[in-house]
Amino acid sequence: MSANEMWGGRFAAGPAAVMQEINASIDVDRRFATEDIRGSKAHASMLAAQGIIAEADRDAILDGLTRIEAEIGEGRFAFKAELEDIHMNVEARLKELIGEPAGRLHTARSRNDQVATDFRLWLRGAIDGLEAAMADLQRALIERAEASADVLMPGYTHLQAAQPVTFGHHLMAYVEMVGRDRGRMADCRKRLNECPLGAAALAGTSFPIDREATARALDFDRPTLNSMDSVAARDFALEFLAAASIHATHLSRLAEEIVIWMSEPFGFITLSDAFTTGSSIMPQKKNPDAAELVRAKPGRILGAFVALSSVMKGLPMTYGKDMQEDKEPVFDAADSLMLAVAAMAGMVDDMRPNADNMRAALLKGFPTATDLADWLVRVLGLPFREAHHVTGALVRTAEETGCGLADLSLATMQAVEGRITEDIYSVLTPEASAASRTSLGGTAPDNVRAAAEVARERFL
Ligand code: ARG
Repeated sequence: MSANEMWGGRFAAGPAAVMQEINASIDVDRRFATEDIRGSKAHASMLAAQGIIAEADRDAILDGLTRIEAEIGEGRFAFKAELEDIHMNVEARLKELIGEPAGRLHTARSRNDQVATDFRLWLRGAIDGLEAAMADLQRALIERAEASADVLMPGYTHLQAAQPVTFGHHLMAYVEMVGRDRGRMADCRKRLNECPLGAAALAGTSFPIDREATARALDFDRPTLNSMDSVAARDFALEFLAAASIHATHLSRLAEEIVIWMSEPFGFITLSDAFTTGSSIMPQKKNPDAAELVRAKPGRILGAFVALSSVMKGLPMTYGKDMQEDKEPVFDAADSLMLAVAAMAGMVDDMRPNADNMRAALLKGFPTATDLADWLVRVLGLPFREAHHVTGALVRTAEETGCGLADLSLATMQAVEGRITEDIYSVLTPEASAASRTSLGGTAPDNVRAAAEVARERFL
């Protein structure tokens, strides 16, 4: 094994095979080849503009980099593990293509600021892609919510039927969650959009570089302001993984609900063949596999956060090779999340509520008990605690009789509270209950329609 061509001057012999194997990151970081080349072009242009390299050298470098970009795009580029990473693979190929000027590209930079720049560029693009996918999920949810603004279902706490809600209202809850998730992604993007290029190895450089120009050329908002922080920081990646974990958690809650709603005792929704699978042994089955996989994704996404924060924890300033382990978890989390969001949007578009099954479930759990208690407060002027007590007694009676609250006779009710009148039946249907919930953010069908319209304005 010969000495490394990048630092062979100091080295007499090449690395052990296992050293090369543990050291090489090319199989992972080749993913941001485009960003690496873009950063190199901006750097070379800045060097020439500052008179640090000749314009002819810059032209040769830009031309060579464009050719490399084409080679990579067309799958003709030979990535080499002995060249360790994407940065050295590109530079070595540049030397083959253009000769001596290639050696001038690495003036006033190091792989430390280079990798930090590439990673931020890549992540910025990934966030933009995710943000668009999340907006599409909101679009799907809002459409389905509007179509289901009048569909009644039991709203649950403790997974016990609590009060009637509309299916549309339930779905709109997720529009809010995804809206905050998008806000977290946007915050992360804003904070990471600073350019570390020019920090060089860790201390800055004695060359008269123009970091503002490089930052502008790469569409960063500004350069980073401390050279050591520039090469040592990975909190932008952690912040992304944290935001991704929270979003994945929200997706998994909806996924779990889809699994529950699809299950035979509920039968609240139907998913078409497009989002279900069959069983190889049980012909009657239609399994919600996509939902189950979305439910599982927080495992790897939160796992990625834990992996990277464990790598970064306790690392002394500035760069350490430990940090090469930063990319795999981020790539995997971004891919997994992208897939999960797209699958969820697909399922929401595909799902159809089964209003009859939802209504049947509604009539089982005394979900209008709160409405009954509220009537006692509003009409008879009972203190709420006393109304709660009276209602509890009526629920027990209905339960013993095996009927709903609306099926109790007036005489039966009056035996518990003498002043109850016929009017009470007007609040005991789920329709009346839901329609009465017109407070801001409440479940009334008209509210849901209005909320959907407002959400379109806010999010789409
Ligand atoms: N492949 C390296 C990484 O991903 C690039 C930076 C290497 N820097 C160094 N000083 N060895 O972190």
